[in-house]
Amino acid sequence: MLRKIFGSSKKQPVDIDIDKEKLPRHIAVIMDGNGRWAKGQGLLRTAGHAAGVKTLKRILISADDMGIEALTVYAFSTENWKRPKAEVDFLLSLFSEYLAKELAEMHERGAQVKFIGDRTGFSEKLQQEMARAESLTENNTGIRFTIAANYGGRDEILRAAKLLAKDTNADIDSLTEADFEKYLDTFGAPPVDLVIRTSGEMRLSNFLLWQAAYAEFWYTNTPWPDFNEREFIEAIKEFAARNRRFGGV
Ligand code: IPE
Ligand code: IPE
Ligand code: MG
Repeated sequence: MLRKIFGSSKKQPVDIDIDKEKLPRHIAVIMDGNGRWAKGQGLLRTAGHAAGVKTLKRILISADDMGIEALTVYAFSTENWKRPKAEVDFLLSLFSEYLAKELAEMHERGAQVKFIGDRTGFSEKLQQEMARAESLTENNTGIRFTIAANYGGRDEILRAAKLLAKDTNADIDSLTEADFEKYLDTFGAPPVDLVIRTSGEMRLSNFLLWQAAYAEFWYTNTPWPDFNEREFIEAIKEFAARNRRFGGV
């Protein structure tokens, strides 16, 4: 049976009735629908983002308790700069606040915190906070928790191509896909097995274009602030029951 798996900063291994080998190693989540959720409650869009942070906390704990190796969440895309300045500013301040409030507990859990995306788009201060979170947790051996911020899959691949072009040690003619992955922001993470998107949209929106090449896709109409452990487990159970062929028969 499922045990209650939220609210604690201590690891509580959870039995979700799935063979360990059938669990996704790496889950990526497009946390969508904060704005519509807020509108539905008669609140400002920003209130939706604040509520979304609470969901994120619960889902991270749940993933860790289930023994998921890596969780990557889409927090801010390279396209999200198109939003009104007040909303962008609110989201950026939420990153700082989130790190200030949650970093100690994530560290205590043994999580490795990482950021992907072009962080040069952020203020010096935020970049320092991100670097601090990464260096504090880099030797941890628990869940690899990656926040995609100013992230775009195309931007990441283009930046990787530029790094490769400048790498005088690279042997272009014999370069393999595995070699190319070393230049991506996600280097070292297991392949993405499952992409979850909330709030009913069925698109990738420039998320992990390279990494999700063979991921299973699962979506729900539930907006991110209302997403919970029960649905998260439902997604994982459905993943475990799917037949992945990777081009074979
Ligand atoms: C996702 O929720 C959060 C971010 C993109 C930062 P949205 O803000 O996209 O919410 P909707 O899709 O407008 O409802
Ligand atoms: C994708 O959501 C980005 C994040 C969740 C951070 P959007 O709400 O920005 O995506 P579109 O514009 O609906 O495709
Ligand atoms: Mg959206």
